[in-house]
Amino acid sequence: MIKHPYQIAVAEDEPALAPVDLRAADEHIAPAPRVSVQAFCETVETAAAVQAARDDRRLGKAHLKIQMGGATAAVEAYRNSPTPNVIILESENRAEDILAGLDQLAEVCDAGTRVIVIGRINDVSFYRELTRRGVSDYLIAPVGTIDIVRGICRLFSAPDAKPVGRIIAVIGAKGGVGASTIAHNVAWAIARDLALDSVVTDLDLAFGTAGLDYNQDPPQGVADAVFSPDRIDTGFIDRLLSKCTEHLSLLAAPATLDRVYDFGADAFDAILDALRGSIPCVMLDVPHQWSGWTKRLLVSADDILVVAGPDLANLRNAKNMVDMLRAARPNDRRPYYCLNQVGVPKRPEIAPADFAKALEDQPLAVIPFEPQLFGTAANNGQMIAEVSANHKTAEMFLQLAQILTGRAEAKNARGGLLMPLLTKLMKRTG
Ligand SMILES: Nc1ncnc2c1ncn2[C@@H]1O[C@H](COP(=O)(O)OP(=O)(O)OP(=O)(O)O)[C@@H](O)[C@H]1O
Ligand SMILES: [Mg+2]
Repeated sequence: MIKHPYQIAVAEDEPALAPVDLRAADEHIAPAPRVSVQAFCETVETAAAVQAARDDRRLGKAHLKIQMGGATAAVEAYRNSPTPNVIILESENRAEDILAGLDQLAEVCDAGTRVIVIGRINDVSFYRELTRRGVSDYLIAPVGTIDIVRGICRLFSAPDAKPVGRIIAVIGAKGGVGASTIAHNVAWAIARDLALDSVVTDLDLAFGTAGLDYNQDPPQGVADAVFSPDRIDTGFIDRLLSKCTEHLSLLAAPATLDRVYDFGADAFDAILDALRGSIPCVMLDVPHQWSGWTKRLLVSADDILVVAGPDLANLRNAKNMVDMLRAARPNDRRPYYCLNQVGVPKRPEIAPADFAKALEDQPLAVIPFEPQLFGTAANNGQMIAEVSANHKTAEMFLQLAQILTGRAEAKNARGGLLMPLLTKLMKRTG
């Protein structure tokens, strides 16, 4: 039969469109940030709903993986690997078994991971038990695609939701001690090995090297944002990012001298709020200077890493920085520090033990001076792990990545203390 040209052709065997939940059409669901989500399903129906949710526009930035096997598979999966931002667990089990599964998961779950449970039990005391364990949301099966989309999105958009992003600020105790190199390598490891979406913000606007280190020459970056404060929102900042690897982006410094970079103390507030709202890990590469805005950035970061070389000026400056920041942040974890460029031949150096005594804290890492390795990486626009994958310095960067994202403590505690999810979540906020 010849069809009328304006008639819409519908093939006999074409599947009917899935029914649309009309309530959802009216509902405003804020898009999820760039989080990693892993679902462990037990039924094909739920797996299909999650699969369809993955294609929803509101989850366009999220990375969603699906597998079968419920809590057992989840516990197995995270025994040796870091947990994502969100875990979705489906269980067909009875209440006691679900709770037992969650307790097992708590042993292997990193701080800060949010958990959504899907089950068939509709019971208030069970719901209370879930909340007590720090479960973020409970969805009653059967669930539709929009339930999954809503469940993930509202973890990050509810008025009382914790911002998705953690800010890590790295600064040198002296110029040229390798603070930027460490910030870039650690962010790269966070993105590659922990699969957390990360952004390196190069705040050394005149001379920053993040573009060189990642072999990128983006036409725009952090200067476009800081000089257009009225335009800043998540979408605007997103367009200024240049993608380096699957999970790593760069907010590059212009590294040009046609203007000067004198800023007010709060010049970067809006940029950081936008980044924090959309990206799990924000690495600030702070230049070695002391001004209103550098101090404010450090004080407001979630975690701080001071990089010091093994000499007296570094020791004095690192101690002053740590003392000052501890006093300004009495309710936060103290700033971390590490030593870099240790073991330059014939150079008298101050020992790590003396640093530990003066700073009343052990260094997170003592990174050796390796001019061949670091020089090759810097001149090729590569990371240390790309130049030499199994080098112990690359391993140190991975360890720093785990500690700075809170991915190490939980794994170390495994097999020992049984810590419920809630305690862990509280610890993270504390
Ligand atoms: N462990 C190391 N061994 C040898 N060279 C290193 C090491 N760490 C860093 N470098 C080199 O030291 C130089 C300075 O590093 P980087 O630019 O990261 O320092 P910085 O502290 O950020 O400096 P600035 O004060 O300019 O911000 C670079 O050439 C880098 O490759
Ligand atoms: Mg630097």
